[in-house]
Amino acid sequence: MSMKNDYFGKPINRVDGYAKVTGEAKYAAEFNAPNLLYGYIINSTITKGEIKTIRTEKATALAGVVKVFTYKNRKNTAWLDLKYADMDAPPGIPFKPLHDKKIRYNSQPIGLVVAESFELARYAATLVEIDYDTEDHHTDLMANLDAARKPKKGLASFFKPGPPKPKGNADEVFESSAFKASGKFIHGMEHHNPMEMFSSTVMYEEGGKLTIYDKTQGAVNSQLYVANVFGKSFKNVRVISPYVGGAFGSALRPQHQLFLAVMASLDLKRSVRVSMNRHQMFSFGHRPYTVQDTHFGADRAGKIQSLNHTAIGETSRFEDYSETVVNWANMIYPSANVSLDYKLVPLDVASPMDMRAPGGVTGLHAIECTIDELAFAAKIDPIEFRMINYSDHDDSSGKPYSSKDLKECFRQGSESFGWHKRNPEPRSMKRDGKLVGWGMAVGLWDANHLPARAECLLRADGKLIVSSATADIGTGTYTVMAQIAADGMGMSIDNVEFQLGDTKMPFAPIQGGSFTAASVGMAVKAACLGLQGKLLKQAKKLKPEMFKGTTTDDVEFANDSIRIKGTTDQVLSLSAIVAATGQKEIKSRNTGFPRVLKQRKYVRCAHSAVFVEVEVDEDFGLVKVTRMLNVVAAGKIINPKTARSQILGGMVWGISKALREETIMDHRFGRIMNSSLAEYHIPVNADINKLEVIFVEENDTIVNDLQIKGIGEIGIVGVAPAIANAIFHATGKRINNLPITLDQLM
Ligand code: MOS
Repeated sequence: MSMKNDYFGKPINRVDGYAKVTGEAKYAAEFNAPNLLYGYIINSTITKGEIKTIRTEKATALAGVVKVFTYKNRKNTAWLDLKYADMDAPPGIPFKPLHDKKIRYNSQPIGLVVAESFELARYAATLVEIDYDTEDHHTDLMANLDAARKPKKGLASFFKPGPPKPKGNADEVFESSAFKASGKFIHGMEHHNPMEMFSSTVMYEEGGKLTIYDKTQGAVNSQLYVANVFGKSFKNVRVISPYVGGAFGSALRPQHQLFLAVMASLDLKRSVRVSMNRHQMFSFGHRPYTVQDTHFGADRAGKIQSLNHTAIGETSRFEDYSETVVNWANMIYPSANVSLDYKLVPLDVASPMDMRAPGGVTGLHAIECTIDELAFAAKIDPIEFRMINYSDHDDSSGKPYSSKDLKECFRQGSESFGWHKRNPEPRSMKRDGKLVGWGMAVGLWDANHLPARAECLLRADGKLIVSSATADIGTGTYTVMAQIAADGMGMSIDNVEFQLGDTKMPFAPIQGGSFTAASVGMAVKAACLGLQGKLLKQAKKLKPEMFKGTTTDDVEFANDSIRIKGTTDQVLSLSAIVAATGQKEIKSRNTGFPRVLKQRKYVRCAHSAVFVEVEVDEDFGLVKVTRMLNVVAAGKIINPKTARSQILGGMVWGISKALREETIMDHRFGRIMNSSLAEYHIPVNADINKLEVIFVEENDTIVNDLQIKGIGEIGIVGVAPAIANAIFHATGKRINNLPITLDQLM
């Protein structure tokens, strides 16, 4: 069987770019139905307690208000907690909107006003009068650390393993180490703020058949949730999500607006849309507030002897959301003495949720800042220190990496950045009256491959339609899958269309964990090979003399044709084959299976080395990231243009995490104080200067046949510690709490 390489590795423009910039691309809140109703969510204003009274008369008295839903009149939904679960649910009982009068966290949805217009629903919501019985709440992680306990295990633990068992005696060896570094690292809570806010438009058909346009990273996941919770058969719930205006974790789980829109639609037998506003985007999941402690020790030669890393994160009272925060240090740095611990404190908050490289971003910050400090204590250059402690093995499992070209990242990165010009002394570099600092850090993220399905359908007009129920959250799925399919069939990419985001399409897992390119890519490849087999069979019928006795090894697919290998005249165009069958199309649905037996002998990760230059104005405590270079080793890169954009996005978000982003809660009220883009700081153009990306290509046939590791998350991982290390180099100050704000610097 043949796979060409005309498009793989080429910087193809985004195939969905035109639709996106012209507004042709439609998002969940932009699909319209006749007589559409609009829902507006009412959120709790207290943090813990019960609804005492809820009076809806004034709201329902308005002409055009159809109904106000509360826990009192919500129709029966599934009573089994299990049914509320979704593919990304942590252990516990998912939050059930309007389930009872209990208030479990501030801003939880407690009502839905449904009206003929959005504005009317929003106004009517202000007329709903609610009295509460309040109870004492606890939302402050730092004030409740004594409640820390081990996380419960569940299905999600497969992707989020707990820390490995301790080795040797980390504490004792740390104490006697020649060089020591330790730190306490506090990360604030962060909320997702994608451009597109959460919306669901539910189209109601006679008999209760639903077509749902939902903002989701997994149409199948939303379908599963709705079917289970509302007791509907899968064939009566179709979820469509062709475009997603950013997500990176927030749309892995179905959000409240989906539940509420479906509930209202089924009750009223009408089509309903529910959209969140920006403020309501803070009424569900977040990157958890986390506190970490590190104690790392090295011998005289700079060899690490001891690694001790503990983390405590927050979770809700109803689910044990956990992250892999502390597992990474010993995966990067071999050490005979290792002690890792991860605990949770349940609080009266919404369940935290995945946000780009969950856990890795947090853990690597503490690890890479401590390594920088340890190198400084040993008076060894930070890159040299990492080379002294370099390994091709993951020391925590003892398994080799399927590939790891971090060394080459260091080499190309230091050369391109000019690292040799760095004066190791803090406060030694200056420019225009400002302190200049150069720092670096390592990033690490899993390269996973999950089973997924795809369909290849070739039409008589020569167009290839490839589909899979995956998502494109802006990462480039449409484009890279078209590239893989065009190569797979030896076709021009202009004749290939990739479709996604529809439960009618073959199954794909949620788009996340940096596993989509590999998983769906391998499904597309499998479907191409399946279609090739079918086409050869037809070709034999059509031109028996030409293809007699040939197997798939004897033919190749090129120029939108099939031909006998090595010939130019023994050719048959693909469209002619379809046309000759008298059918409209020939199609093949196939599964891309991971090679589990081969993979399990290895640890599979993408690596990066991040280099940062900062300018610090000490008078004002201002930090400017003047340049940053991210050198990424992530197997083969399908599309250097979209891949670069992915990494740039991660770098901008990393700057945000290091210097800007934080959800501030007033713990007296358990209420978020900055739930708007006016007060939730993210970088603006003026904060972003020179950003550069280098890809170090790796050969890796273990991860999958396409050699794809995935790059959705690796781009952000090492950024915050590289910035913090650069700030240390500039100022001599170690600031371990993120974001690094001016008050901490002055
Ligand atoms: Mo990612 S946090 O798995 O969207």
